[in-house]
Amino acid sequence: MSAPNQPRRRALITPALPYANGNIHLGHLLEHIQVNTYVRARRMAGDDVVYVCGVDSHGAAVEIAAKKQGKAPEAYVEEVRLAQQTSFERFSVRFDGPDHEHYGSTHTPENHQHAIRFFEALKAAGHITTKEVEQLQDPTDGRFLADRFVKGTCPKCGAKDQYGDACENCNSTYRPTELIDPVSVVSGARPVLGKSSHYMVTLGAYADRLKEYLSAAGVLHESLRNFLDTWFNDGLKDWDISRDGPYFGFRIPGEDNKYFYVWLDAPVGYISLTERALGTQGKWQDWWRDAAVDVEHFIGKDILYFHTLFWPAMLMATGDNLPRAIHAHGMLTIDGVKMSKSRGTFINADDFAAVVEPQALRYYYAAKLGPEPQDIDLSLEDFCNRVNADLVNNLVNLVSRTVPLLHRLFHGKPTTLPDDHTHLVTEMQEAAHRVEGLYRSLDFAAAVRTCTELGSKANKLLQDTAPWELVKTNPQAAHETLTTALFVGKSCLALLKPVLPGVVEKLEALLKVRPFTFENATDPLKPNTTLATYEHLFARLDLKVVATLVKPTEATPTPEKKPEKKDKKAPPSSTPPAEIVFDDFAKVDLRAATILEAKAVEGSDKLILVKADVGDLGVRDIFTGLRPHVQPEQLQGKCVVVVVNLAPRKMAKFGTSHGMVLAVGEPPRPLFVDGARPGDRVS
Ligand code: 2FM
Ligand code: ZN
Repeated sequence: MSAPNQPRRRALITPALPYANGNIHLGHLLEHIQVNTYVRARRMAGDDVVYVCGVDSHGAAVEIAAKKQGKAPEAYVEEVRLAQQTSFERFSVRFDGPDHEHYGSTHTPENHQHAIRFFEALKAAGHITTKEVEQLQDPTDGRFLADRFVKGTCPKCGAKDQYGDACENCNSTYRPTELIDPVSVVSGARPVLGKSSHYMVTLGAYADRLKEYLSAAGVLHESLRNFLDTWFNDGLKDWDISRDGPYFGFRIPGEDNKYFYVWLDAPVGYISLTERALGTQGKWQDWWRDAAVDVEHFIGKDILYFHTLFWPAMLMATGDNLPRAIHAHGMLTIDGVKMSKSRGTFINADDFAAVVEPQALRYYYAAKLGPEPQDIDLSLEDFCNRVNADLVNNLVNLVSRTVPLLHRLFHGKPTTLPDDHTHLVTEMQEAAHRVEGLYRSLDFAAAVRTCTELGSKANKLLQDTAPWELVKTNPQAAHETLTTALFVGKSCLALLKPVLPGVVEKLEALLKVRPFTFENATDPLKPNTTLATYEHLFARLDLKVVATLVKPTEATPTPEKKPEKKDKKAPPSSTPPAEIVFDDFAKVDLRAATILEAKAVEGSDKLILVKADVGDLGVRDIFTGLRPHVQPEQLQGKCVVVVVNLAPRKMAKFGTSHGMVLAVGEPPRPLFVDGARPGDRVS
C-alpha cells in the first residue's frame, strides 16, 4: 500500500437498496458509481472490503405493481432483480456474492430470520408496543393505504401534492391522516378512516444514545446536523413497523394479516446480504459484530431519517455494529432540473448505455463528486466537453500518441525515465499518495483534478518537445520524452482505475503490467517490455448523439412557462415582466368554460384531457398539465377560465389541445370561477 502508515482496514460498504418497482436510472447510478469507486479505491489501497447490495423487494408498491402485471410478487421481484443486476454490470458495478446472485434481494429466508431477530430484540428490550391506529383506507377495495399511496397537502407548510409520510418541500414527517385533502393514489378516491392495531417501536427510548452516537466524529457530514437537531428537538415519535395485508413482506410472528413494514426489513438486508455473499467464506458476525470493521452506508439525503434514527436504534437493540459513517449525497439534476419523465430527462441506465460508453458517466460523476452532500448536475453539453477534454484529448491522448510512436520509432519499447524530467516524475509519484487519501475522504473531484493537471503538463511536454520531429536529430531525447509522457499518462490512468476500471483494464493489457494498485501505479515502465499494439481505449463523445437521450414524451401544455428551477427556498421573483400594450392583451381571448368531462391521459403522468363547454364556441378537447396537482374528478363540472384562441397544439402522441386552462399559484391550481356561463368573455 502506498501509505505505509495506514494499516490495512476492514470495511463493510453498502449503497441503499433500490426499490423493486422500477428500472435503474441515472439517479441511482450517481450513488452506485460513487460507492463503487470508493470500494475499488479501498481495495486498490489494500483494504479488506465486503460490498453488498440487492433489491428492496417488499412493500405495497411492489404488491400492486406485480398484481397489475398479473404476476406473483416473488416472480415479479426476481425479474426486477435480474434486470437491475444487468444494468449495474453495464456500468462496472458488481457486488459481492455468488455468481448468479451478486446482486441480492431482501426477500430471502436469511432476511426473514434477521428481521425476526431484530423484532424480538426490540421486544425483549421493552421497546415494542401495540397501538390502535387510525389509518386511511381506499373505499373502493378496503385496502389500508400505505403512506406513499396517499397524497395531499402538507399539514405543516401547505405544499400541495405531497406523499403521506413526508413533505418534499419542508422535510417534515407526519402520518397520512394528517394530510389535508387526501386522495388515494391507487384509485383516485378520497380515502376513508379505518382502525387497526399496529406495532410501534418506542424510538424515544433511544434518543439519548442516538444523539451521542450521531455526534461522534465522522458519522455524518457536518452540514446535515441541523436535520437531526430539528428531529431531536421535536421529540422522536414512535415508529409504526407493521402494515395490514394485502402487503408483500414478511408476516409478523403470531399474526395472520400483519407484515413488517418494508423499512424494517430493508436495512436488515444489509446484514442478510452480507451473510448470503459470504457463503461458506465467513460468518456475518465477522463483519457485523467485530468492532474493527467499519460499516459504511451510502444513501441519498432523502432517506436520512431511516438511516440515522430507525436503523441505528435497531442495531442498538441487537448489539450489532453501528455504522461508522452514513455518507449522504445530494440529488441528481439533468441540465439544471430534477429528472422528469415529461421533459424526457428521466434516463434509464440501459438506455444510456445503449448510446454512450458507460465509463464516461463514471468519469463525469467522479469529476463532480466531493465529500459535501450537494446536488450534482449532469449537463449533457458539459458532459461531452469535459469527457472529451479530460479523457480523450488529455489522459488517453498521452497513451494513444506515444504507444504508436514508440512502435514506429523504437520497436515498441519504452526507455528509462530521464533525469531531465525528474521534476514531473517526482510530482507524479507524490500525487499517488495524495490521490489515495482523496478517495478515502470521498473527494473524487480533487483526485480527478490532480490527475488531469498532471496530464496537461505531460501533454505540454509532448507538444513542446515534438519527439516525432526531434527523433531526426536527437533520437535518445525523443525516446525519453515519449517514455515520460506515456509514464505520466499511464500513472494518471492507473490512479483513476477506481473511476474508469473498464478503460484501465485495457491499458494494463496494452502495457503488459500487473493490475494497478496505489503502490505500483507510478512504477516506471520496464524498458525491456514490448508494448502491445495500441488499440482504442476510449472514443470521443458526440453531443448530437448524446442529446438523443433526452426524448420528451409529451409536449408541455404551458410552453410559455419557464422550466421550473426547483429551488424551494428561493422567494418568488419580484421582477415585473416586460410591459405590453393593451392591444397585446386584447389579442388573448379568455372565456369561461364548464368542464363536462375530465380524465387522466394514459401514458402520461402530467396530462389531463378535459371536454370543455365554451358556449357558442362549442365543446373543446383541451389538455392541461395539472395532473400532478389535481385529480381529474376535482375538475368535473367546474367552471374554469380558458384561452380559446391559442393555435391548436399537438400534445405528442396523445392528441391536439384546442385551448389552455388557466391556473394560478405555485404549485398551480386551476382558476375556478363562480357565476359565469360557458362562453362568457373574461375581461
Ligand atoms: O429509498 C429507497 O430507494 C429505498 N429502497 C432504500 C432502502 S435502503 C435500505 F434500508 F435498504
Ligand atoms: Zn411541508
